[in-house]
Parts: sequence; structure tokens; C-alpha cells
Amino acid sequence: MLGSLLLLVPLVGAAIIGPRDVQCPGYRASNVKESENSLTADLSLAGKACNTYGSDLQNLKLLVEYQTDERLHVMIHDKDEEVYQVPESVFPRPENKDGAKKSSALKFEYKKNPFSFKIKRGDEVLFDTSASDLIFQSQYLGLRTWLPEDPYLYGMGEHTDPMRLETENYTRTTWNRDSYGIPSHSNLYGDHPVYYDHRGESGTHAVFLLNSNGMDVKINKTDDGKQYLEYNILGGVFDFYFLAGPTPKEVSAQYAEIVGLPAMMSYWTFGFHQCRYGYQDVFNVAEVVYNYSQANIPLETMWTDIDYMDRRKIFTLDPKRFPLDKMRQLVDYLHDHDQKYIVMVDPALSVSDNGAFNRGKEQGTLMQHPNGDLYKGKSHTPKEGYKLTNIGVVWPGVAAFPDWFNPKTQDYWNNEFSAFFNANKGVNIDGLWIDMNEASNFCPYPCEDPAKFAKANGNPPTPPPVRENPRPLPGFPEDFQPPKQKRGDRKGKKLGLPDRDLINPKYKIANYAGSISNKTIDTDLIHAGEGYAEYDTHNLYGTMMSTASRNAMEKRRPKVRPLVITRSTFAGAGTGVGHWLGDNLSQWNQYRISIAQMLVFASMFQVPMIGSDVCGFGGNTTEELCARWASLGAFNTFYRNHNELGSISQEFYRWDKVADSAKKAIDIRYRLLDYTYTYFHRQTQRGEPFLMPMFYLYPKDKNTFSNDLQFFYGDGLLVSPVTEEGKTSVDAYFPNDIFYDWYTGRPVRGEGKNKTLSNIDITHIPLHIRGGNIIPLRTSSAMTTTELRKKGFELIIAPGLDGTATGSLYVDDGDSLEQKYTLQVNFEFKDSTLRIDGEFNFGEPIMLEKATLLGQKDMETGKRGADDAVRFVRKGEKMVKEVNFALEKPASIQFRGAN
Ligand code: NOJ
Repeated sequence: MLGSLLLLVPLVGAAIIGPRDVQCPGYRASNVKESENSLTADLSLAGKACNTYGSDLQNLKLLVEYQTDERLHVMIHDKDEEVYQVPESVFPRPENKDGAKKSSALKFEYKKNPFSFKIKRGDEVLFDTSASDLIFQSQYLGLRTWLPEDPYLYGMGEHTDPMRLETENYTRTTWNRDSYGIPSHSNLYGDHPVYYDHRGESGTHAVFLLNSNGMDVKINKTDDGKQYLEYNILGGVFDFYFLAGPTPKEVSAQYAEIVGLPAMMSYWTFGFHQCRYGYQDVFNVAEVVYNYSQANIPLETMWTDIDYMDRRKIFTLDPKRFPLDKMRQLVDYLHDHDQKYIVMVDPALSVSDNGAFNRGKEQGTLMQHPNGDLYKGKSHTPKEGYKLTNIGVVWPGVAAFPDWFNPKTQDYWNNEFSAFFNANKGVNIDGLWIDMNEASNFCPYPCEDPAKFAKANGNPPTPPPVRENPRPLPGFPEDFQPPKQKRGDRKGKKLGLPDRDLINPKYKIANYAGSISNKTIDTDLIHAGEGYAEYDTHNLYGTMMSTASRNAMEKRRPKVRPLVITRSTFAGAGTGVGHWLGDNLSQWNQYRISIAQMLVFASMFQVPMIGSDVCGFGGNTTEELCARWASLGAFNTFYRNHNELGSISQEFYRWDKVADSAKKAIDIRYRLLDYTYTYFHRQTQRGEPFLMPMFYLYPKDKNTFSNDLQFFYGDGLLVSPVTEEGKTSVDAYFPNDIFYDWYTGRPVRGEGKNKTLSNIDITHIPLHIRGGNIIPLRTSSAMTTTELRKKGFELIIAPGLDGTATGSLYVDDGDSLEQKYTLQVNFEFKDSTLRIDGEFNFGEPIMLEKATLLGQKDMETGKRGADDAVRFVRKGEKMVKEVNFALEKPASIQFRGAN
């Protein structure tokens, strides 16, 4: 009865007491009905309520659906459907397809009393809730599953812990939070409540819990050493999706069937981006553009942080430092040079702004303080004058926040975008950066006097001095909140139970910021529209802003794919936007962890447009770190150098070695851009990931399971960066397979061991082509992606151990949401012949100018096959087969490649 003893010490111990310890009665199943593809049952509380963190619900419902043969949906919700559920409008549920119990790869087994269930794949138990009794209370849900010993678990973002999750005394909290310095073992900006469980030989599966409430997922062992994973959730319902895999790639694709396939991005978005917080004025921005061109480092897109705003107010320009006429000239200049421009927009609206804030207030699209019957907050006394809107303090000082649940907010946002980012009269941006959307609020809860707080903390700050144009830049132009809520009958509406403590729930999740309302929007706020509570929907704020912003961008330019890069995300964010990994520090450990972060987002969360602040955001970088990061960043899908106000400048041209590293890496990145585009596109069509951890391609090789310092850039390229300060070597793992050095073409026979790669200067990143792949490349790089698209193609054929290789190429116009003409070809190399097949519906001729067969010499002798693999070791020079032909007409082309 350890549990009841612990209960005598409520709150202090609350955060660490799991459902096992609290000894609640659990539930009893009755009225079980089964059909070919579903099972339903009633669950009733099996004893006296324990009311630990709220009151136990007496009656629940169980729904089991075999949605596809690989996807099993298990839902436990309150009988009256009053408890909050993630709204369909934010997260549309996947269709129930043709799954059936008979053919399903997954089996559901249950015990009636106390109720527990198991999910099995064949005879293997994947999930087993008999580890604890089920708890379903008004402000707490608890469930524990047994896991095998020493499990390989991944996911549950967003975090900066190792890719493979720790298995003892480990807590993963999800509660979106502004997280400067992205500390490990803390909750960060986004919420992705899915874990992948990789079991080597027997396969991989994933468990997605569709729930947006704050939660602690604890991974630990019982006193007698049994491994478990436990959910401790502040509300909502159990809405589980089990994905059968069995390969990691298949699980990722199955996950995409639930959360949605990621959005395709424009060709240019894969170019290099430069940004920083602290560009003093438009001259400073122009100067950076100029310096990049002088240094011959391709710059595709220039960015501007909140510096451009008038005293940090969104939808305004600083009239002296970033005046409209000069901003327009800057954007025209960039566009004339086939370059792009992006600026930041935050959600917070300054209450001292006569523009966007006033319009929002008039239209009622800003968050309103709950008042009258609905207001349950105990300590919050809104100050006179602020009572209409939820107030916080962000960059511009005292600020209000748009309410994305209000049906009028989208129009409001569209109109602000069309006016401010107007192509003819405003700042004609090409993409959008959205930030602070957790939402962040500097003023700690209860934030009783935001004005005082803002003043004391210097928000907004005093702007920097006004300068005259400091020096001529050759080539540049000369000048440079709801209607009152009625509670009504809430049954069946899934809006959230009444009478909860929305500020101080008894169960305390391990939020790094303390109370759940601290440094964000008050959680007792009731949203416009249906009347959801911020308590339940907090984790959706950033993703709803993303959707509204993507829509607004599409309204401005209806034909092209919008690029929106957001800080805060929820499961499914990849369907519309990309994500940058937030405020890292210029430190080696953060450079290293960026790899794991990127991999998990790209492959497991299906947010493939992803990257870190290259060279580091906070603190000062060093030449060595920045040089290494410049080349690592080139293998992030989203490649942007960005740093903080007050840190030293870190544009790539500031150091020779960094410039060298960047030039070399951008050269490779650009030549590979169509390979990237092709496989990124494949992910948007099939959910098959492009950026992947090593175990995705070698799922049976245990040595790969925890490797989060090397990764695959598509199926064909292994990236093995140097990750230690002061080192010029890296111990890189090569699975039992054949690889080819990118730079020399020399084969490297992987033996399932580490190989030390030495003499790796800070301007160099080790890259290996994985045997079995045909890589399409542009014949040379270019200063912009527009220029790059004019170049021809070559193929690198890297035969696998069996002497064959495959690849593909997808080309479209690079920008349109709907494509008229595309080129989609598959390459296959077999029996010394390269076959090119596919659809050649592309307007312009695309030149395939050259094909290089690696490991050629021994291929010629015909000695091939897995057993003969070692004979592929190339002793001489690579043989180049030069071919010259246009792909505009034929249905298929064959040529003899090897003989
Ligand atoms: C926080 C963002 O994470 C960072 O990238 C940005 O520079 C600052 N806000 C200022 O806008």
C-alpha cells in the first residue's frame, strides 16, 4: 500500500506518482459487441472512486477499430462525450479504411475485470495496459504499458535528448514552451505525442496518442525491474493509434496516413538562407546580401527578424531604419537577382498600436478574458482597460493575442497579410517566418500588471540609432480576441468538462516553466467559437497560427507553394509548414543534438522541412564550430544561418575557413538539389522519409539503433560529420554493405564496424554514397537555384553488393501548387545496362549529359553477387561513360552503360 502512503503527501509527490502507485479501482468492461472490423464496450468504474487529481468518471466507452490492416484505433472516452477532444477542425481524423480483424497485422486482446488490453503483432505483445489500472479523472488520465527489457524508443517531441529515449527515470513532458537554449530534459516548442518502438528483427511499430493536453510520459522500471512506459495526462481522452510497421519506413508512412502527408516545398526553399536578429537597418541587410555575392557564396534568401518592425509591432515598419520605399527597393533588388526575401511575424499584437491591434479588437478576433459565469480563474484580476483582451508582454511590450478558434480570425489575418505584404504597395515577401507561437509571454503568471512588467523589462527596447546609408553597395538602388459564451448543454460536444481548475490542476506536469500558465497565455482562457479552454488547446496555438498564416500566404499568391517556417508545432504540422529548431546555443553539444532533432522531426514526426540555426543562435560561435556547422547544415532540408541580437556576426564570409566550408557544402547541396527534391517529393506523396536515422535502412543491425551522429540524406547518401571540437577525424559506422566515397568514388566495404575517417579539415564533411543507388546530380552548381535549374544532369551509379542500383528523378516547375508538366523517371542498373523509364511530360528538354559507374573495373569482369562483394573494390580510376541525349520525347531509353 505504498500508493496510499504516498497519497498522504499530495502535491509535493504528485508529479512523481504514477497510476500504479495511486491504486485506483480501474474499470470493468461489459456490453462487449464485436463486428468484423470493430469492437465496442462499456467501461464502468470498478470500485470506489479514488479522486486523486480530480473526480473519477463512472462511465466510459471503448471503441476499437481495425482501420487498415496496419492501423488499429483504440479509443476510451467518457460516455457523454463531454470531455474535451482535439477538434476535427484542427486535426482531421484519418478515414476508416478497409481494415478487418481477420486480416489485420495487429490484434486487440482484452481482459474484462479489471479492464486492460493488449496489442499484439503475431504473438508479440506490443502494448499491454495490465501494468496498471486505468485512471480516467476530470483532470488526470493514467495508463501504463509494459515494455520489453532495454527497449529502443524514439519520438515524443519536442526535445533535445538523445534520439533513443532513456529508459530509466525518464520523463518526457509535452507542453509547448518558449525555450531559450533548448535545454535537454525539458519540454520545448512543439507537441508530437507519438513514440516509435524499434525491436530489431521483429520489427518497428508506433503508438500515437491523439491528445493535446499537457502530459508527462514516464519511462522507467518497477522496483522488480520490469520496464514500462506510462502516460500521465491533464485531460482529454485516450485516443490511440497503433501502427504495425513492420519496417521503420513503413511506420513513418503509416503515421503520415494519420497526421497527413507533408507539404511539398518550392525548389528555391532548398537554397541557402541567411538571417540574424539584430540587423540594424535596411542598409545592414543590403550589405549582407552584397557581401555574400562578393564572397561568391550562393545566397538564395535573405531574412529579417523583428528588427524591421516599428518598435516590434507586427505589420508595421520602422519608418526610419526600414522605411517602405527602401524595403521595396531591397525586395526588388533581390527579385531581380533571382533571390528571395522572408520576414518574421509574431502572434502578439501591441496594445499601443492603432493598426492591427485596433482592427483585431474591433473585429473581435483577439483573445478575450473570460468574464461572467465562465470565468473560473482565481487569481487573475485583469486591469481596467485590458479586460477585453488576453494580455501578456512580448517584444512590443503589452500585447494581445489573436484567437485562432474565432471563425473571423482567418479573414482578419488574410487582410493584414494582403495589406502589409502587398506585392504592389507593401513588402512583397516570398516566404514567412512565424515565431513566439507557443504562445510565448514574457510576463510570469499571473501577470497582474503587464504595463509595469513591460516597462521594467524594456519591452519594447529603445531602437538602435538611425544611420545614413553607410557605404554605397554597387548594384543597389540609390535610396536606399469572443462573443459571450453560453455554457448550455455540453453533452456530446467534446468541449471539456465544466468546473475544472484550469490554472492549478492537482497533477503537476513537469513543465520546465513551472505552472502551466506561466510565461504563456492563461490556461483558464475560453476561446471564441465553440468555447474550448486554453487548458486543453494550448499545444495547438502554434499549429493553428501556422495554418492561418499558410492560408493567408496562399491568398496573396494563390498559385505557388507557400513557405512558412514556424517555431511551435503539433502533430501533423508538416502538412502545411516547416520548422526550425529554435534557440540553440553556439555550442558543440547543441551542434551534435541538432542531428537527432532533425532526424526525429523529418522521419518520425513527418515534418521534413527542418533545420537548426546553423552556427548556433545564442552566444558567440567560433570559426571551427561555424565551419563544421556550415557543412552539416547543408544536409538539413532547411538550411539557414541565424543568430541572436548581441552575438558576434557569423555570416559565412566572416572567416575564410567558414566561407570555404560553406562554398564546398553548398556546391554539393546544389548539385544534389534535384535528388533532394525528388525524395522530398516522394515523402509528400507516400510518407516515405527522406532524412533518416541509420536504423531506418539497417533495421536489423543493432549498432545503428542508437546512432544519432550519422544519418542518411535520402536512401543514397550517408553523412558522417566530425562532431567533436578540435578533432579532424570521426569514427564512422559502416553497416555490412558497400559504400563509395563521395569525393573519390572509392568503394568502402562496410563490415558492421566503425572506421576511422582521418584528416578531415574543418571545411570538409565526410559523405558516402550507399551502394544500390543511382544519384541524379546537376552537372555543376550555381549562385542561385534559378540558375541551377538551367544545368544538365549526370548520374552517379553506385552498384550494391549484388551489382544493381536504382534511383529516380522528379522534376516539375519548382513552385506551382498544381503542376501541369512533370518528369518522373526511374533508373535501374542491372546486367551492365542502365534503363531509364518513366513519364517524360515535361515542357523543356532536360539533358542527361553524363553517367558515372562506380566500381567499374570489377563489374566488367562480371564478378558480382553478394558473396563476391569484395571484388567490387575499385583499384583503378572510375570509368566514366559519357552519354548525351535529350529526354523530351521517348517513353524509355536504354543504353549499354558498363561494357
Ligand atoms: C525568438 C526566436 O526563436 C529567434 O529565432 C528570434 O531571433 C527572436 N525570437 C527574435 O525575434
